[in-house]
Amino acid sequence: MIEARKLCKAYRVQGQSLPAAQDIDLVIHKGEMVSIVGHSGSGKTTLLSLLGGLTRPDSGQVLLDGMDIWSMGDDSLSELRNRKLGFIYQFASLIPTLSALDNICLPTAFGMVSGDIGGLALTLLEKVGLADKAGFYPSQLSGGQQRRVAIARAFINAPEVILADEPTGDLDEETEREVIDLFRQINKESATSFLIVTHNKDIAGRTDRRFTMKNGILSEMT
Ligand SMILES: Nc1ncnc2c1ncn2[C@@H]1O[C@H](COP(=O)(O)OP(=O)(O)O)[C@@H](O)[C@H]1O
Ligand SMILES: [Mg+2]
Repeated sequence: MIEARKLCKAYRVQGQSLPAAQDIDLVIHKGEMVSIVGHSGSGKTTLLSLLGGLTRPDSGQVLLDGMDIWSMGDDSLSELRNRKLGFIYQFASLIPTLSALDNICLPTAFGMVSGDIGGLALTLLEKVGLADKAGFYPSQLSGGQQRRVAIARAFINAPEVILADEPTGDLDEETEREVIDLFRQINKESATSFLIVTHNKDIAGRTDRRFTMKNGILSEMT
């Protein structure tokens, strides 16, 4: 379970303070799938990075399984983030000098996952329809294929929570459907929680609860 309590974050730009997250309260239970829609600039990516331990809030708390992540030291926070969270970033995030397979394995280098990591990475590649691209480098893959590798990578440490920032942004409709089917399948098999930022109404329609973000304010749709 991940919980935000009165999370606030403002960016200071040219002497001005721009609120990007305002008093955000949110609880995502184990196994829940939640979506957020909202215009560009409304604060969605900011909220994911606050929840994911990447951007420190000005005030408020993030609790991951009851642990206040922003009260932890850097090393413990990195370890917790690596073990419990899976990130799918909005923009390209693969390491250009590593093959698709090695990109997927990378998060295990810091964690405690053991066993047949290469085999697991291949299974994940298969699930995103790229079994034949294991040895390809990011520059040899299309934008949509790179995105699918990044999706596979998010699952390698069997995280409790997946934070996905417009995960199907550059995918065609069929691949998009397959990715969401994969999310649903993993959600069912392992009770992984999902927070998905999306512009796609069909994706939002398939989540358990839906929120909108507007000027840094999160509201649940009823
Ligand atoms: N690192 C930053 N420095 C200054 N302003 C930022 C930074 N990141 C985001 N912002 C501003 O915060 C607001 C929310 O941005 P963001 O969270 O990326 O929105 P979204 O993901 O919904 O498009 C925007 O006005 C954006 O310009
Ligand atoms: Mg964004």
